[in-house]
Amino acid sequence: MIIVGIETSCDETAVAIYEGDVATGKGELLAEQVASQIETHARFGGVVPEVASREHLLALPPMVESVLAEASLPWSRVDYIAVTAGPGLMGALLVGTSYARAAGLVHNIPVLPVHHMEGHLLAPGLAGALPEFPFITLLVSGGHTMLVRVDGIGSYSVIGETVDDAAGECFDKSARLLGLPYPGGPEVALLAKGGDRKRFGLPRPMLNRDNLDFSFSGLKTAVMYAVKNAGGIESFDLQAMKDMAAGIEGSICEVLVKKSVRACLREDAPRLVIAGGVAANQTLRSMLFKLAESKGVEVHLPHPKHCTDNAAMIAYAGFQHLFAGRNAPEEWDATPRWTL
Ligand code: KG4
Ligand code: ZN
Repeated sequence: MIIVGIETSCDETAVAIYEGDVATGKGELLAEQVASQIETHARFGGVVPEVASREHLLALPPMVESVLAEASLPWSRVDYIAVTAGPGLMGALLVGTSYARAAGLVHNIPVLPVHHMEGHLLAPGLAGALPEFPFITLLVSGGHTMLVRVDGIGSYSVIGETVDDAAGECFDKSARLLGLPYPGGPEVALLAKGGDRKRFGLPRPMLNRDNLDFSFSGLKTAVMYAVKNAGGIESFDLQAMKDMAAGIEGSICEVLVKKSVRACLREDAPRLVIAGGVAANQTLRSMLFKLAESKGVEVHLPHPKHCTDNAAMIAYAGFQHLFAGRNAPEEWDATPRWTL
């Protein structure tokens, strides 16, 4: 079964082709491409929705043809189109979903609408197989921070989430306070190498609350005051910048890691997946491996290119719907706000 995946929910245009066997639930990725709009949005300090839609409109049609050519497949061999139907930016989603519907009509191919976060949740399956159910996934991106219990395909319960900013958003906003470009996560991570995590005494928000929720807006405010009290960002030398970056990264990662492992133990599901853009962070990965190993929790990480937005995870999630016996729904729409 050949599935074309399409992703246009935010600032990445992506197309992938997955070939799966519905008898076994196994398969392989045949081709994929991702075009990031980050440079276009960087000069505005964040994603501009209208600009994102226009960029998707330009990038998507030639990318679909190029990915099909890469896999040497004509449209007549495609069995399904899986497309991100939400959540995300309405205009951006409409580009992908309208394209998918049109291609489906022209080539007589059914279309599977996929929840973007379900794509992230199932992404480790692209590397071979999904962990045994139930498992816990920490989804950490620029827009979301949540802990999800996965009991099977389509059976997801959110067991913890941020009450304010997402972890990636905290990286991005704190980076901005340090005068670093967007997106701030990779910039902070780079700068944090060789920094003293403890120097500025940044808080670890919600760590001692006996729940699985997160809060990151207070950390961003603490960064703002720490910079101000130290004489403003202009007075920071390279070491002070490094120490501040290490403090930000350390605080965010410590909270994410401790709460995720706590979730696995509490839910009696000692298998943890991390996904979303922030999961590419190396400090997060190494802290997680260390703590998880000491607590007997198995860690499953998608390939870094499948942690950030991509279409392989959308094609794979569509395939898993089919494997679970579901089919293309008759009626559906692009849904910018869609709970998991
Ligand atoms: O999943 P993603 O690509 O897009 C969505 O938000 O859906 O995640 C992007 C977020 C941004 O906030 C970015 O700063 C963060 O992931 N990020 C990182 C790293 N790479 C990307 N944060 C920390 N460390 C990184 N290495
Ligand atoms: Zn995402």
